[in-house]
Amino acid sequence: MKIAVFAGDGIGPEVTHEAVRVLQALDLPGLELAEADVGGVAYKRHGHPLPPETLAVARASDAILFGAVGDPDCDNLERHLRPEQAILGLRKELGLFANLRPAKVFGGLEDFSALRPEVAGAIDLLIVRELNGDVYFGEKGIRTLPDGRRQGWDMMSYAEDEVRRIAHVAFRAAMTRGNRLCSVDKANVLETSQVWRDVMIEVAREYPAVELTHMYVDNAAMQLVRSPGQFDVVVTGNLFGDILSDQASMCVGSIGLLASASLGEGTFGLYEPIHGSAPDIAGKGLANPMATILSAAMLLRHSLGLEAEAARIEAAVAKALADGIRGGDLGGSHGTAAIGDAVLERL
Ligand code: NAD
Ligand code: IPM
Ligand code: MN
Repeated sequence: MKIAVFAGDGIGPEVTHEAVRVLQALDLPGLELAEADVGGVAYKRHGHPLPPETLAVARASDAILFGAVGDPDCDNLERHLRPEQAILGLRKELGLFANLRPAKVFGGLEDFSALRPEVAGAIDLLIVRELNGDVYFGEKGIRTLPDGRRQGWDMMSYAEDEVRRIAHVAFRAAMTRGNRLCSVDKANVLETSQVWRDVMIEVAREYPAVELTHMYVDNAAMQLVRSPGQFDVVVTGNLFGDILSDQASMCVGSIGLLASASLGEGTFGLYEPIHGSAPDIAGKGLANPMATILSAAMLLRHSLGLEAEAARIEAAVAKALADGIRGGDLGGSHGTAAIGDAVLERL
């Protein structure tokens, strides 16, 4: 079992370190970890945010544990050299088109939520975000119009096969949960979304047990804070899924709690917290590593088939929270290492 560990920038190394300690504590026979540089740190050391050596380590592994990329020093580089291209490149190069972002309130911890506890208590949803298409990967540019004005442009598109494969992932996920799937789009304005919606309806015929509904993304943003308990599985495009999942994190309590799995056709996957490199708190030992620890649990479940070990990690995190272990993101005073220690003790 080979796990590639790509810690990246900012708080990435800090939170990844704690997740690696948790993995190592499980004493899994045959587990090998291989580290490599990604993001701003890779650009600074090797001249590219996703060096060929890093991609080779990724390809030789069964799964990737990823921290975060993004460095304010790099924000003015040419786009293809920016740290964020590392994660976009890994998702695309490795065919990781399905991003699972579960959001569930930890029992008894409804007060964490930015919402009223009785509203938050019902949250148990899964966002299935398409990860290889949309405006993220279309042609883009900055051009000068004949009258001299600068114009930025980005091509948004979804081909039907791209929608179909994420639809199947979402329908199958719904069948393991509450059999309800809400497809979020902007079909009232965008042709991209019209194709998205049409294909969702076509694929639904193969899943008669699942109830498919549709919601415009503006309404979905509103409903997510009005009554998040109405959602079971949400399937949406790359851009809308990016935005709605950050919003969902505050409905649960903090962006420091939400994990994710990025999957392709097989068991190979990339696992990362949904948050970024948090330059504002980097290097201070303040970041909450729970989202990364929970991502490691998803890695064990989805790529290595170790359900019992995954559940053990999740229970240890839930117990730590229930026992009052809180990072600054949850109004507490526990630092990154203290949270890691607390999870390890409960493991
Ligand atoms: P961010 O998620 O890094 O941070 C947003 C806010 O949440 C900040 O105040 C930060 O301190 C806080 N926060 C995030 N994670 C936390 C944690 N684990 N514990 C405590 N607080 C936490 O988003 P941003 O500030 O918009 O982006 C910063 C950089 O990260 C940018 O370069 C961006 O492109 C990048 N980014 C990368 C990824 C990724 O690698 N997958 C994801 C999102 C953003
Ligand atoms: C995420 C991030 C990335 C995205 C960025 C860093 C490219 O925000 O993983 O949610 O937009 O997908
Ligand atoms: Mn994001």
